[in-house]
Amino acid sequence: MTEIIKILFVCLGNICRSPAAEGAFKKLVQEKELEDLFYIDSAGTANYHIGELAHEVTRKVALDRGIELKHTCRQVNYADFEKFDFLIAMDSSNQKGLFSIARTEKDRNKIIKFRKFDETVKGEPDVPDPYYGGLSSFEHVQDIVETCSIGLLNWIIENNNLNQE
Ligand code: 4NP
Repeated sequence: MTEIIKILFVCLGNICRSPAAEGAFKKLVQEKELEDLFYIDSAGTANYHIGELAHEVTRKVALDRGIELKHTCRQVNYADFEKFDFLIAMDSSNQKGLFSIARTEKDRNKIIKFRKFDETVKGEPDVPDPYYGGLSSFEHVQDIVETCSIGLLNWIIENNNLNQE
């Protein structure tokens, strides 16, 4: 039996990008009927919004794509490195924050930038922070997290010999 793969999406506030990524990735694995193989969560490097639902525009944009975001904000902590297989950073600053919490080489190897899995761009740019932007900024983030979710799932399938019949 394949072990459950545990993925934590991480941004700064855990109210815009990482809950959007969590929702998009959950929807994708449901569509592929792979939900039993995954445990998926999100968290923020900051503590500004602990206990809050995702930003109302993040929730609206996700809902327009058929995704209901129910996550409540929490802060990432060292126990997440013990629990999760991959900690997926939305931007370089989140990545640095995660590196500052990691203790071992094994921990550090779990940190991956999300846009590594975006085949439409070169390198690993940031998922841009939409917090001070308008609706189009949030829609752009939604587009990116949906694209990166496809790349991430394909990468996991290729690297874990998941059966895709
Ligand atoms: P997120 O966006 O990191 O994508 O959740 C932000 C949310 C809140 C703040 C900044 C970015 N803030 O400064 O409160």
